[in-house]
Amino acid sequence: MKSFATVALAVFSVYAHPSPVKRASAIDDATVLNFALTLEHLENAFYKGALEKFDDKAFIHAGLPSWARGRFAQVAAHEKTHVEFLSSALGNKATKPCTYNFPYTDPRSFAALSQVLEGVGVSAYTGAARLISNKDYLTAAASILSTEARHASWVAAAVNKVAGWSGSFDVPLSLNEVYTLAAPFIVSCPSTNPALPVKPFPTLTFSAKSVPGSASTVTFESSTASSTELFAVFFTGLSQEVVPLVDGTVVIPKDVRGLVYAVISTNGTMASDDNIVAGPAILEFDFGSNHLLQ
Ligand SMILES: *[C@@H]1O[C@H](CO)[C@@H](O)[C@H](O)[C@H]1NC(C)=O
Repeated sequence: MKSFATVALAVFSVYAHPSPVKRASAIDDATVLNFALTLEHLENAFYKGALEKFDDKAFIHAGLPSWARGRFAQVAAHEKTHVEFLSSALGNKATKPCTYNFPYTDPRSFAALSQVLEGVGVSAYTGAARLISNKDYLTAAASILSTEARHASWVAAAVNKVAGWSGSFDVPLSLNEVYTLAAPFIVSCPSTNPALPVKPFPTLTFSAKSVPGSASTVTFESSTASSTELFAVFFTGLSQEVVPLVDGTVVIPKDVRGLVYAVISTNGTMASDDNIVAGPAILEFDFGSNHLLQ
């Protein structure tokens, strides 16, 4: 790992408690549940499609443990049950599945994407908790959240052989942040589906070899004036770490581990829906039992 000492940057760590979605926009429980159902439909289609495509032999051929497919089938059944549970709670307001496009090509890239989708699912439920009014729905959402977190841990540690957690806290994401990450997989949806009050932010990408403590090139389409000062904000647990964006380059904070999200923001204190220019991007930094980067 490169030394961070040479980097004379202001790095702020703050507790993130901005309102992800303003109360004024009156997000009701049906809307939050439909947002959750939108994600569950996506996960359900993801697992169903992969299991139809890859049999036991394909898993073994890919060098994955022979029992992994059976576990993925259990995960698939959970997602299907989540879809049925939320659909039943919403009745005739329930949003219907869309058509999707997932970029996996073999069981290994499927398992890698599974880890990402489960991680985003955890961040989605964690971030949406504050929007739910009905305590029974909140309990049900917590129960789904913990199950998604078990999936994320299992696929990371047992299948992909990386750390099964990121740290003491998982990252809460706003509806718009989650939708930004889900939208690339959604091809089209039934026109009869209820409209959700979400909009994706422009895509943000980091250069391939992004490592904590080193500089990384970022790319995004921005409509902000070129004179506007911009920052890269890293979401890690309940904290945000802010670094300046200089000539399209950011230095990734050296202490980030596990699943981390990054956005570009006009605000050098805290990123929120009001000031995000692009992202989130998903960054994964595997670390060993000694906490050192792998
Ligand atoms: C940046 O965000 C902080 C925290 O939400 C807020 O207090 C501040 O006014 C914002 N700054 C600008 C320039 O918008």
